[in-house]
Amino acid sequence: MVDVPTRPQVAVADRPWLEAGLDIESRVDLLLGVLTLPEKVAQLHQVANLDPTVDRELIATSGVSSALYASGATAGNVRDRGLMVAAITECQRIAVGESRLGIPLLFGRDVIHGHRTIFPIPLGLAATFDPDLARACCRVAAMEAAADGVGLTFAPMADISEEPRWGRVAESLGEQPVLAGRMAAAMVRGFQGEPRTSGSTVAADAVAACAKHFVGYGMSTGGRDYDTVQVGENTLRNVHLRPFKDAVDAGCLTVMASFNDIDGVPMHAHGHLLRDVLKGEWGFDGVVVADWNGVGQLVSQGVAADLRDAARQAIAAGVDLDMTSGAYAAHLAELVEAGEVAIDLLDDAVRRVLRLKFRLALFERPYPEAARGDGRPSDEGRALARRAAVGSFVLVKNDGILPLTGDPGRIHLAGPFVHEGDALLGTWVLDGKGDDVASPAWAFRERLARDQLLVSDGRFSDVAIGMVRTADVTIALMGEHPSRSGEDRCLSTIELPAGQLDVIRQMAGIGKPLVVVVFTGRPLELGPVMDMADAVLVAWHPGIEAGPALADVLFGDAEPGGRLPITFPRSVGHIPSSSLQRPTGRPIQRDDDRTSGRYLDSLVYTDLVFGFGLGYTTFSYGPPVASAMTIPLGSSSRRQGITVTVTVTNIGRRRGTETVQLYVRDLAADVTRPLLELAAWRRVEIASGRTRTVSFSVEAEMFGYYDRRMRWRVDPGDVEVIVGPDAARGQRVRLALIEGAGR
Ligand code: GLC
Repeated sequence: MVDVPTRPQVAVADRPWLEAGLDIESRVDLLLGVLTLPEKVAQLHQVANLDPTVDRELIATSGVSSALYASGATAGNVRDRGLMVAAITECQRIAVGESRLGIPLLFGRDVIHGHRTIFPIPLGLAATFDPDLARACCRVAAMEAAADGVGLTFAPMADISEEPRWGRVAESLGEQPVLAGRMAAAMVRGFQGEPRTSGSTVAADAVAACAKHFVGYGMSTGGRDYDTVQVGENTLRNVHLRPFKDAVDAGCLTVMASFNDIDGVPMHAHGHLLRDVLKGEWGFDGVVVADWNGVGQLVSQGVAADLRDAARQAIAAGVDLDMTSGAYAAHLAELVEAGEVAIDLLDDAVRRVLRLKFRLALFERPYPEAARGDGRPSDEGRALARRAAVGSFVLVKNDGILPLTGDPGRIHLAGPFVHEGDALLGTWVLDGKGDDVASPAWAFRERLARDQLLVSDGRFSDVAIGMVRTADVTIALMGEHPSRSGEDRCLSTIELPAGQLDVIRQMAGIGKPLVVVVFTGRPLELGPVMDMADAVLVAWHPGIEAGPALADVLFGDAEPGGRLPITFPRSVGHIPSSSLQRPTGRPIQRDDDRTSGRYLDSLVYTDLVFGFGLGYTTFSYGPPVASAMTIPLGSSSRRQGITVTVTVTNIGRRRGTETVQLYVRDLAADVTRPLLELAAWRRVEIASGRTRTVSFSVEAEMFGYYDRRMRWRVDPGDVEVIVGPDAARGQRVRLALIEGAGR
């Protein structure tokens, strides 16, 4: 090992910024004031997979600020050896102990839906409609990751997408901005711990969250990853920016710029959205991190002549930390000396990075301090993962066969997932392990007598068909392998993987009860499956407790808690078809299903609408009742608004939980507004035969939107609230927003 001559380190006594009693801004000023130009530039330089044996010189000469550990540009698809905690610690030791000012490094890792304890994919967490549950999962993920030296995770993904062809829809939090926003905010609080105020530091078991990918990535043309995006600012503000604003308002410490352009301006060079909106309008004082080589990609996007030009544009636009392109490290100092980049711009970015490091208490805690244990999932973590999986499952058809209570006879568990581990974890699993997964076959064996369970693993469909005949009920575990889900994993169709529908068709043809469980990272074309199976359960990729959670639900120990966070279109030809539909000049009368929609060759309407999902009981709704027919403009709190109540009765035989949803619509606005915009929901548990009155506070602010001049406004005039179990079955109440006190 080359013994790097140690630079004259500034003595600790001469480092006033280390005084933890000072406020963070003062500490930033003190440190910024002694940085040389090269040291400032280095604070904006993030590299991949920093290695103390290779990069010692770079670290010891203050040449780098941060490192992310990833197998490469699409880390969610390629497993690496796992986080090398010893390497991280040694890198940190060199930085703190040998570099001139001892500035600690920041280590990043994609901890997307768990670190070692893997929870359902984000789309599955969104299906729970339970932000507290999502927050709890991210809390466990942060504790495990922080114990391994991670200071920054690149989650939550707040992209809104109506594009099942786009592989990253698996990482999204659904199509409705309010659901995605509340989920994103909850995940931020889980990762960062709470409460965290702007001047405070995070706890030792917390990591910085990163709201990504700012913004519009979910609209990639054709659902093709990295493709261009055509969208106006009004739709950006009224849909796509909202969950990011919720994440920022929740104190998210970093935001990641997205790969896409917006109407020709790549996001890594988009000064209006990064500086004017995110940092200006919203007052975001955290760090904007580039997405992998996003700065360098400005060249291939044809807006930068070379890497030097890319660096100039990106720093000007507001990208603070350059992930892996090396553009800042190579060119920023010279750009500043040439007068092409103002030192104030550079200082602002450096200030943000230093502020982040102080907020993470890296100067006090440069090394992992959170309890590590043996590194394996804890019992508490497993229990939470099981609860999250149960809560994420969406029952989309049940003709009464579920739950399998009493003596269901001989059960045939079939399909490629029966013995699975790894494939049930889903995409973006870097430190999770397939061996940690409790498989469906294991969970069913734990529960059933040996002669009661038949298992066919999908290799021989003829064997499986034969078992259907001899069993009393078949549970077919179908769906997509996570290798076709996630980044750069886009599809041109959304059917089940090749061959699966044929097997299901043959199974159904035997005439025995058939349950189909669909593991998936995206909406799939389930119409044919729904026609043939007696019950269909959408199970996403549910994480390490896949098997036990599935058994809990199928045998009725728990009811499936999920509701669809994204529309499942009839087919790929119907994309986009989501609940975000805005009114047209010639509205479709959906009540006449024979003619609804604009296609001559098929209906548009899908049964699998946003918010849909069945439980094991049935609920009936009374009409929604408003406490007043007018709502005062300016009302933005429960006290000032009105109340809309609805009675919900459990008319089934089992206790159950209903997700009562409230949507809003502005009937006459400055721009076209969605026919349905989710504004609130309540998950209520109701005993059989009992009735609950569910109340929603409705304030004028719920109807607010950005108008054609990008100004936020709430209009006087007619509005509607729609209350019901999903986006298709709500009951409407017409109200009016009025000046004055209202009532
Ligand atoms: C990837 C992804 C981003 C991820 C980053 C680091 O390309 O776009 O979501 O956090 O690179 O792995």
